[in-house]
Amino acid sequence: MADLNDRCPSGINGLDELMEGGFPRGRTILVSGSCGTGKSTFGIQFLYNGIVMHNEPGILVTMEQTAEDLKKDMLKLGFDIEGEEKSGNLIILDRKRVIPEVDGLSDIVTDSMAKIKPKRMVIDSLGAINFLMGEGEKIRSELLTLSERIKNAGITTVLVSERQEGEEAISAHGIESYILDGVVILTIHPALDTRKMEIRKMRGTKHTLRMLDFDFTENGIEIVGGSGPKEGHKKVII
Ligand SMILES: Nc1ncnc2c1ncn2[C@@H]1O[C@H](COP(=O)(O)OP(=O)(O)OP(=O)(O)O)[C@@H](O)[C@H]1O
Ligand SMILES: [Mg+2]
Repeated sequence: MADLNDRCPSGINGLDELMEGGFPRGRTILVSGSCGTGKSTFGIQFLYNGIVMHNEPGILVTMEQTAEDLKKDMLKLGFDIEGEEKSGNLIILDRKRVIPEVDGLSDIVTDSMAKIKPKRMVIDSLGAINFLMGEGEKIRSELLTLSERIKNAGITTVLVSERQEGEEAISAHGIESYILDGVVILTIHPALDTRKMEIRKMRGTKHTLRMLDFDFTENGIEIVGGSGPKEGHKKVII
């Protein structure tokens, strides 16, 4: 059983101090948001900073973008994921590698786990897995097998899931909510010209419930001070 006092720093500047120093280690956190809210960046930043700041190897399962596109996009935010892949600290499994193994999603990830002994994992995204591999009982059982293996290995995992704008329910695509130890929701607020992050749930953790402003910077995403409007922006009541 993971020790709840053992925290896994999120890699997001300004976030850990609002949740007892990080995610509970060895647990699974759902990062949910509509399109373009920053879910993939959140996940990759968690992995990349885990490697460079804490020497914790990671696995990225990316079903949306190809590994090549992702490497280019993330380099712009300062994350040299290709470099870390070459150094053997990161394994990237994109859809070209995963899809031929539809029946063995859990096995292909387990093989990589044996190679790299990861401390962190990102699965991006549940919706893309369902879209590309079907939503049936088979994929559901693959995901459940995988989540048990991840848990047994004590890996802290970020699961990415899409959510329709304004939708109240948090879609976990058939993943039982008991598996999720944390839920972080990302939203875009065009009227305020801000992005917001909300820690909806984080088991065993005293955390803020405030809607946190965050921004893209040259070091990825970071929480910006206070919950009010940005300087130069008028407060708009919506
Ligand atoms: N350097 C940057 N500066 C400002 N905004 C950026 C920058 N890089 C990316 N963005 C914003 O972040 C969005 C993409 O972030 P990301 O891919 O992490 O989001 P996502 O929620 O995973 O999106 P998707 O729904 O496509 O999977 C872009 O659409 C853009 O709005
Ligand atoms: Mg994405």
